[in-house]
Amino acid sequence: MKKVLLGAAVLGAIVAGSVQAQVPADRSVVYRKAGFQIMANHVGRISAHIKGERSLTAAQLELSAQVVDDMAKVLFDGFIDGTDQSANTKAKPEIWKEFAKFKEGQTRLVGETGKLMVAAKSGDKAALQAAFGGVGAACKACHDTYRAQ
Ligand code: HEC
Repeated sequence: MKKVLLGAAVLGAIVAGSVQAQVPADRSVVYRKAGFQIMANHVGRISAHIKGERSLTAAQLELSAQVVDDMAKVLFDGFIDGTDQSANTKAKPEIWKEFAKFKEGQTRLVGETGKLMVAAKSGDKAALQAAFGGVGAACKACHDTYRAQ
């Protein structure tokens, strides 16, 4: 029991140390960018499948749609106050001036990724293509307004 407690204390110290190494603002920038990278990777897989450059199995297709939907739901938690000041971000300061409007962009995206999951499960290629177009339009609309070139 003592050993377990000691182990927990050591682990706690290690975690606390790594948290202190980076300021929270920068960690949230790393977090959201990682989310965008994973989301974009799976959007790319579905795109290649639609174009016939790559053939995903039904299971792979469903998983990629699921990952895109999951990322759309969690990555925007990384847009915390003050992170427009980070040296490593392309997020425009307008995001925090009209945050509710920015969040509407996420809501729109999640609506489209939900449809993408349904289409991926259906096995209907035309439905997949239509849903994919909706997702792409949601990405672009937000980037045009809130992401610096
Ligand atoms: C509601 C707004 C919004 C939506 C919707 C959105 N993005 Fe973004 N995206 C941003 C912003 C803002 C940044 C800049 C983030 C930063 O640099 O901190 C960004 C950055 C990115 C990046 C670059 C990440 C990096 O490593 O620098 C990729 C890739 C990306 N988005 C892909 C996508 C894809 C694919 C979609 C749709 C499936 C999407 N985004 C939807 C706002 C959005």
